[in-house]
Formats: sequence, C-alpha cells, structure tokens
Amino acid sequence: MPVTIAVLKETNKQETRVSAIPETVKKLTALGINIVVAKGAGENASYADKDFKDAGATIATSNDNAVEKADAIFCIRTPDAKTLGKAKKGALVIGGLSPFAFDDKGFKDAGLSALAMELMPRITRAQNMDILSSQSNLAGYQSVIEASHAFNRAFPMMMTAAGTIAPAKTFIMGVGVAGLQAIATARRLGASVSATDVRAATKEQVESLGAKFVMVKDEESANAETAGGYAKEMSDEYKAKQAALITETISKQDIVITTALIPGRPAPVLVSEDMVKTMKPGSVIVDLAAPMGGNCPLTEADKVVVKHGVTIIGHTNLAGMLSTDASALFSRNLFNFITLVYDADKKKIDLSKDEEITKAITLMEKGKAVHEILGAKPAPKKKAPRAKKKAPAKKTTTKKTAVKKEPAKKKSTASKTKGTK
Ligand code: NAI
Repeated sequence: MPVTIAVLKETNKQETRVSAIPETVKKLTALGINIVVAKGAGENASYADKDFKDAGATIATSNDNAVEKADAIFCIRTPDAKTLGKAKKGALVIGGLSPFAFDDKGFKDAGLSALAMELMPRITRAQNMDILSSQSNLAGYQSVIEASHAFNRAFPMMMTAAGTIAPAKTFIMGVGVAGLQAIATARRLGASVSATDVRAATKEQVESLGAKFVMVKDEESANAETAGGYAKEMSDEYKAKQAALITETISKQDIVITTALIPGRPAPVLVSEDMVKTMKPGSVIVDLAAPMGGNCPLTEADKVVVKHGVTIIGHTNLAGMLSTDASALFSRNLFNFITLVYDADKKKIDLSKDEEITKAITLMEKGKAVHEILGAKPAPKKKAPRAKKKAPAKKTTTKKTAVKKEPAKKKSTASKTKGTK
C-alpha cells in the first residue's frame, strides 16, 4: 500500500498558510505517495484546489475526511482535537506544533505521533528542513514593510528642491534570521541602520550588511550562545548594562524592530515603557517577539497600538502576511524532510533512517510522550558490551604494571555544527 499524506486546511483564524503547494504535491506523488488535500486548504495562499488536483492530489471534502486514511498529516499549526480524533492510529502529524506550548491530549487519545518541525536541529544538512528559518526570514522582511506603512515619513534620504529629508533611523534588536533580513530590507529602502544582539558572532554579519553594530561586550557576552546556535538567557547584571546602552540608543531612533527570542522561555524585555517615552512622536516599534510575550511590555499581540505617541505593532503571524511565499518555503521544508525518511522500495516512512534528526523532533510516538520537552526521560544510551572479567591473579605472581588508558574518543561534533547563512 502506498503512503498517504493528508494536507489540512488550517482552522486557526490567524492562519493563512498551507503546508503543501502544487509543486511539492507533484514531487511527492512522483515518489509514489498519495496526497489528499482538504478542500480550500490553499485558498488563503492563492493555491486553488484545481491546481492541487492537476498536480496529482485528491481533494477531500473536509479535514476529517482527509485524515481518515492518512499515514502522515501535514499542518502549519497543531490540528484541532476533532480532526486528530478521526486520524488513523499511529499516523504521523508533521508540521508546526509549538513544542513549548504543546497539548498532548488529542495525540494521546488517538494514539498519534507528533513531529514538531520547530525542533529541527541546527546542523548544516538540516537547513533545508528548518521552518523557523524559512518563516523568520519572511517575517523579518515583512516587519520592515509594516513599519514603513505605519511611519509617516520616508525611509531614504532625499535631497529635493524643497529641502532634504533625513534617512529613517532604524534599530534592529536581535540579529538572528529575522533580524538579518530586517537589516537587509531596511538598508534596501535606504534607512540608516544599526543593530544589537547578545551573541558577539553577529557583529560581522551586521557590518557585512552595511549596518552599525552596538552591543554590551563583557565576559558573559563571549559565552552567550548555546551549542545549538541560540542565545542564552542573560544575567540581571548584563540586562542592566544592556538597558543603559539601549536607553541611550533608542531615543534617537525612528523605527525599532525587536526579534529577540530564547527558545522555550518568555521573550526578554528589551524596550521598557520608560524607553518608549523617550522616543520621538511618530516613531514605530515592530515587536516580532509578540507571540512569546513581546520584547516590549506595551506590545499587544495581534494589535497595532499607539502608546506615548509611538506606534507599536504586535502581529504574531508576519510570515502569514506573505502567505504564498511562506507556504511555498514551509512546504519545501516538509518535502525535504519526507525525502529524508521515505523508503521508496518499502513504500513507507521510516523514521529510523536518520535518528539524529527524527529523535530531535519527535514529541510523541503512537500516543506516548517521548521528548524531554514533555517531561519524558531521554532514551538511555546503549552500553558498550562489558569485557569479560579476568580471574584474579594470585598475589604472589602479580607484578604491578601501569595501565595504559585508551585515548578518549573524539566526541562527534555533528550536532554542534552550525550552518552558514
Ligand atoms: P532566535 O529567533 O532564537 O532569536 C533571535 C535573535 O535574538 C538571536 O540572534 C538571539 O541571539 C537574539 N537575542 C536573544 N536574547 C537577546 C537579548 N537579550 N538581547 C539581544 N538579542 C537577543 O534566533 P534565530 O533567528 O533562530 O537564529 C539563531 C542562530 O541560529 C543564528 O546564528 C542563525 O544564523 C543560526 N541558524 C542556524 C541554522 C542552521 O545551521 N541550520 C538555521 C537557522 C539559524
């Protein structure tokens, strides 16, 4: 029996994206996989049912019908309990599952496996499956576009007969994937850009994009990056020094774009209300950390508010505002993952094909929590077979011999390897 994958119509009102597009459907069907797309799944991202059908998919009348016979289910966000309840026992739910806010109930009840693509390890060979990167990049771009709409002035410097317009001063806080794209976009629009981060490695990246780098440099910042490439939570002492630097910088800015995140933790507060008060009227803050509580306490999720004369934008799905592109990139991330684990000879998805990746992203296996994020104990490491004990030698004949230790084997660095962006 060929593998069947269901593509859901997202039920969350905020969601505009779809987890497969006709291009990836065509490629998956070429591998011998059946694709069932829920009716209207792509309509908010400008992908019509007819295009999915032409690419080889079957159209199901609803999500419930789509998942009935599916071995795997693609989604942008966790499907609702009703749909999970209709799925085949043991089916794999693959997509964006918000692992740090994951509700396992529907998966437990239906005996399903949950693969959270957000947990993709940050290793070079997994880059093309990394939904956080593909979506953050678009969010970074869109944050500048949104800022430009809310800003009552122009971005580039303009020298006209009626006088000169100064370039918009733009400050990017947090220079990961989204921050770097925000810098590049603001520069393309002609803004004067500066940026900050706690990871010292970002200095070179910021400067290579033509922006100015500002940061608090101390012993702590030299170790502010985890092995996985993410930022660590900083000490109160560092935060105080950082706040002083930001206070000085922020009052001169027109646009502030904040993107600072720490995996599994609330977003760090970087722009306090007092700092907002120092900004010029008409300035704009776009808070990309809004889904994790925001980098500014005045941010309201999914709202645009004006506080102390400053517009604060808290959209939580900026990538979704570019639904066609965002769906295309997300779908390719999922397609690349399937090609990694699909066994074409046996016509099945085999998660043992690459356990470094599949173990990192599997939250639940057939209804059972298996990931440490959900409190499961990490799988015990296989013990090396014990050498047989030698019979104790008689004391009288034993000579003391120095025991040579085997040189310690080098630890694999694969999981620490960071890709180049
Ligand atoms: P993120 O979305 O977790 O955080 C955004 C940025 O905020 C990061 O640069 C982080 O250092 C910064 N930040 C956190 N706390 C802060 C604070 N208190 N003050 C100022 N800045 C703060 O990060 P993202 O975009 O996921 O990228 C993290 C790193 O991973 C980057 O170096 C990126 O290039 C790398 N990466 C590697 C990949 C791979 O090798 N497959 C894929 C994607 C990213």
